[in-house]
Amino acid sequence: MNISVDVVLSQSEPLTCEADIWLVIDILRATSVISRWFELGGKIIYPVIEPEDALKLAEKLKAQGETPLLMGERHAVLIDGFNLGNSPLDLKPEIINKYSCAVMSTTNGTAALNTAFKNNKPVISVCARNAKAAVKYALNYLNKNNEFKIGILCSGRHKRTAWDDTLCAGLLIEILKDICGNNLVIADCARLSLELWQNHKHEFYNSIMTAEHAKFLDNLGFGRDIKFACEIDAAQVAPVLYYNENLDSIYLKN
Ligand code: MLT
Repeated sequence: MNISVDVVLSQSEPLTCEADIWLVIDILRATSVISRWFELGGKIIYPVIEPEDALKLAEKLKAQGETPLLMGERHAVLIDGFNLGNSPLDLKPEIINKYSCAVMSTTNGTAALNTAFKNNKPVISVCARNAKAAVKYALNYLNKNNEFKIGILCSGRHKRTAWDDTLCAGLLIEILKDICGNNLVIADCARLSLELWQNHKHEFYNSIMTAEHAKFLDNLGFGRDIKFACEIDAAQVAPVLYYNENLDSIYLKN
């Protein structure tokens, strides 16, 4: 068996490494919000790049009898006309029960999911909370092949590499390494992430807090979201992307 893993450190890089499955990370905070939605039993999320398109999609969904929750952020705060911002802890069971689906637009995370989807390979939304569940899903999916490659796309921040996502990529690679042992071939960027993780895993939360985006969020009063995002393997969800032809939109389902 020959399993390899590579990491694309930011979404400004072309996804030149051919992978059989993609894991997309935006630990602060898009993929942590996505995890929370499914942890609480939410059904579908439509990740949309632009807020205007999210508003239009929500209208289309309403016309089909759906009750979409519009959630997301620009500059980390609520978008005009949206129901919720991008705080995972604002998602409560009573809110999720009121909506049949969510339409989400964030600065980096929903764009990265759309980018990864263009590769015509399965895409899983992942963060620290669902790290093991997502890795296991990927391995089960690929299990039938003797040789496969796992790609990890870090959303990063403003098209640049981010400390927080890189660290989370390292966590995923360590999980892969624990499961696959010597069968795992680790490409250079994956090794960068893994070594970062190995150096900081014992103070994961403190290390995440030193990230530029964490400081930005903390200054805005979103510190508790960061703590939530750092709860490793708290969730057993593996949200996977699909395409809805009628709506011409991708969507996530657990
Ligand atoms: C993003 O997608 O850029 C993030 O989720 C931003 C945020 O923390 O709200």
